[in-house]
Amino acid sequence: DKGEYRHYMLKEIFEQPGAINDTLAGTLGTDHVLTAILGPDAEARLGNIEHIHIVACGTSYHAGLVARYWIEGQVGIPCQVEVASEYRYRTVAVPANTLLITISQSGETADTLAALRFAAKGGYLATLAICNVAGSSLVREADWRLLTHAGPEIGVASTKAFTTQLVALLWLTTALLQSRSGNQAQVAANVAALRQLPELISRALELEPQITRLAERFANKHHTLFLGRGPHYPIAMEGALKLKEISYIHAEAYAAGELKHGPLALVDENMPVVSVAPSDSLLEKLRSNLEEVRARGGELITFACESIDQEGASPQDTLSLPEVADVISPVLYTIPLQMLSYHVALVKGTDVDKPRNLAKSVTVE
Ligand code: M6R
Repeated sequence: DKGEYRHYMLKEIFEQPGAINDTLAGTLGTDHVLTAILGPDAEARLGNIEHIHIVACGTSYHAGLVARYWIEGQVGIPCQVEVASEYRYRTVAVPANTLLITISQSGETADTLAALRFAAKGGYLATLAICNVAGSSLVREADWRLLTHAGPEIGVASTKAFTTQLVALLWLTTALLQSRSGNQAQVAANVAALRQLPELISRALELEPQITRLAERFANKHHTLFLGRGPHYPIAMEGALKLKEISYIHAEAYAAGELKHGPLALVDENMPVVSVAPSDSLLEKLRSNLEEVRARGGELITFACESIDQEGASPQDTLSLPEVADVISPVLYTIPLQMLSYHVALVKGTDVDKPRNLAKSVTVE
């Protein structure tokens, strides 16, 4: 039931604070994470992991890409992330003590399941499924499971499933950090940041009226570029996927530093460029990339932190988000991008909840 909402997608976007609360319920102590939810000997087994392979498709793959920044950045465990349809068909070098993580909303995606089944034959330390459906094949067949409690997601475009996957992955990063006697202050900081998320997301949802106005500007556009750096590069990828999936506007994401290696040639007044620009250590670098867009007459739309002075940018082109700890910023910046694709789809009159040619669960190879 869509209740007061016009589409399931919009309802699911607004359900995110609650979905994140539900995903976190029972997983956090005051300044640590409760690893027992993975099983009685989890803390010791987490400590033995030396390599991580993350395998998934579509939006779930993007969640994995964000996690690589967290896992390598905070824990120092080498982590590779790959789409399941490639991983399962190539010869993968699997170092000793590798954890395979599969991520899936449905738990029935054929390629992701095939990768898990391959790993179950041996050669891996353990397998973990991060999944939204408790009784799914993926959950039944993995050694460890981490359930996202997003509730049923009806819209084909994944929204609350994605942000709850990010929450589960940051929880896991924290559990890995806690299991080795590393930076326990960072463990406590992650826990505090996770607790703040629902409230911060509620504040980001208040941007809807501004985003509705912004969406009008996409009515006659055929292409859009999304830019980000660091963990916000996969968030830009997710923003581009969402836009193409439901509004049928061609959208591509680039790591902002790659702009001048090719895509800058595309930029003119018909090319909106959406940039994800939180106030982190990469902001100054990103700013100079954005100057290159502005100088070429590109229509620049920036999602930035409210406390940062936006020199040279006009207010209708910059939307401000609350200031947050760096680690959770990718979750927060996802929200306005979901909302943008939803409102552009409304302007275009497409079938938001059931985009053409797509299925909610891809059980064929
Ligand atoms: O159920 P899964 O998470 O395994 O599905 C993977 C993709 O098919 C899915 O995320 C797809 O990309 C979404 N429709 C994107 O919004």
